[in-house]
Amino acid sequence: MRIVVLTGAGISAESGVPTFRDAGGLWEGHRVDDVATPEGFERDPDLVQRFYDARRHAAAAALPNPAHEALARLEQRLGDELLLVTQNVDDLHERAGSTRVVHMHGELAAALCASCGARSAVPADLAEWPPCPVCGERMLRPDVVWFGEMPYELDRIEAALAACELFVAIGTSGAVYPAAGFVWTATEHGARTLELNLETSEVSSLFDEVRLGAASVVVSAWVDEMLAATA
Ligand code: OAD
Repeated sequence: MRIVVLTGAGISAESGVPTFRDAGGLWEGHRVDDVATPEGFERDPDLVQRFYDARRHAAAAALPNPAHEALARLEQRLGDELLLVTQNVDDLHERAGSTRVVHMHGELAAALCASCGARSAVPADLAEWPPCPVCGERMLRPDVVWFGEMPYELDRIEAALAACELFVAIGTSGAVYPAAGFVWTATEHGARTLELNLETSEVSSLFDEVRLGAASVVVSAWVDEMLAATA
């Protein structure tokens, strides 16, 4: 069965990585405009570099939880019939064992050179302005998609949504587009849709089925069901 899974910050919450909107509009004490827009970076690049350096260190100290692990088990069974699309910039899916992961909002572990456009592994804390490993310019920024910028791999995601039989959204508030609209695309092409979230989201009414609960519980239970059904 072809499945597209979309994950958001809620799947990493039980690993101790804070979600965005649960913090009352603030993101680790900062306004989103200051740390997640190109304009914020222009105003105070050092602050933004320190912010993402701190998040990268925090994510590295976090461990995958049973929800990440369950999705890795599902990939082992389904292989390339499963596409995992995440809005998260941490690498907890990969560390749980998932290999087919699309980071549509970029990754904390990567840097983007504002001079030559190369994407590379972060060579050192970006607040130290290390040189780009490709062109040598000291203009690296976090390879994270900010508001107003285009998410990665949208063509590949749209194609997978059009071809899937089941679309599952996990731990995402449905507040940020285009990801919040994936349920429409999947429905339009005839897929069944399932939402797994702690509480109802802004787009819950668009799903065929909604299961509420902590990701470690509801995702594990859903994956066990899928594994039993495809045994
Ligand atoms: P949000 O912080 O907006 O939403 C987190 C969702 O996870 C909420 O719906 C919570 O109810 C749910 N949640 C919290 N704890 C949970 C748990 N233990 N189990 C299951 N669900 C839980 O995060 P996202 O929807 O991922 O974009 O945010 C989308 C995008 O907005 C992010 O990728 C980021 C942000 O600004 C960019 O940086 C471009």
